[in-house]
Formats: sequence, structure tokens, C-alpha cells
Amino acid sequence: MKKEILIPRKTIRARVKELADKISSDYAGKEPVLIGILNGVVVFFSDLVMEMNIPSKIDFIRAASYGSSTTTRGSIKLNKDVEIPIQGKEVIIVEDIVDTGLTLNYIVKRLEKRGPKSIRICALIDKSERRDEEVKIDYRGFHVKEGFLVGYGLDHDEEYRCLSDIYVLR
Ligand code: PRP
Repeated sequence: MKKEILIPRKTIRARVKELADKISSDYAGKEPVLIGILNGVVVFFSDLVMEMNIPSKIDFIRAASYGSSTTTRGSIKLNKDVEIPIQGKEVIIVEDIVDTGLTLNYIVKRLEKRGPKSIRICALIDKSERRDEEVKIDYRGFHVKEGFLVGYGLDHDEEYRCLSDIYVLR
């Protein structure tokens, strides 16, 4: 498979800064808990929190979704849960890519049971082509209709995660 650049690092950096500024202004005077969905989110998550200028807490959750091919997917299974208490807290779930929407909805439902004050969603990429379940993305980096994306945390069989740009595999 060949990879073609889709979103260059400069564009990503500028957009992440805009998202961080918006979150910082919306949550001014508050201390949100940012929860990243592992593993793909780590690169975006780190860049995002370092651009924010309000105090925040961070934690991670891991739900396996895709299988090892670009077209099949397994069922959702939780491999690592959030550890810090979120009851009464302002939660922002951070995701690298929303595809079918199943992972995010599963995690939102799980976290809602713990009584957070609010839950919002920040996703770098909203990929709409295969959306099965509606997801309300409050902070969206980029909309991409289709394609298998890699780089900037996104993988194909665990490859390509450490690239600084986002590519589409052909
Ligand atoms: C990817 C991505 C999202 C999820 C989106 O994670 O990071 O968490 O799939 O897909 P969905 O909207 O169809 O549920 P993946 O399970 O591939 O794990 P990874 O983050 O470790 O790559």
C-alpha cells in the first residue's frame, strides 16, 4: 500500500492550537478532566494539553475496536478504565478519530454512569463515511469523508503512528 499526505504537520499544529484555545476559553475558571482514548490519541492529546492554558487533569481509557485489517472490526472491549474520580467533574473525552462512532458512544455511556457534571467530546478527525451511530463532537479538528488514515498517532497494524503528518493509505 502507498501512503499519500493528507494533512501536513503545519496544518495539524495550527488546528490543534485553535482547539486548545477554544477549550481554554470555554473552560476558563474551571479544571476539566481530559480523558484520552488510547492508543492512537497520545500524539494529539499531548499536543493539545500543552497548548491549553488552563489547569486540567488527565487520564486515559482503552477500548479496542478495529481488528487488524482496514475493513473489518471486532466488538468493543474495555482494556483499561479511567482511574481518577470524575463524579461532579467537567469531562472532555479526547479521541484521535471518530469512524463508526461505536467506540465513543460506548465510552460516553460508561462514563455517564459515574455522574460527571458534564461530558464533551474533542476529536481531531471526524470521518463520516462509515458512521453507524450519531456522535455529537463538540470540538472537531478536521472533517474527512473517507479513506484509511495513518500518522500522528493513527496506525495500520501498529505501523505509522509516529509520523508527524497525516496520510491516507491507497
Ligand atoms: C480507533 C480510534 C478510535 C476508534 C474509532 O482506535 O483511535 O478509538 O478506532 O473507531 P469507531 O468510531 O469506528 O469506533 P483503535 O481501536 O484502532 O485503537 P488505537 O487507538 O490503539 O489505534
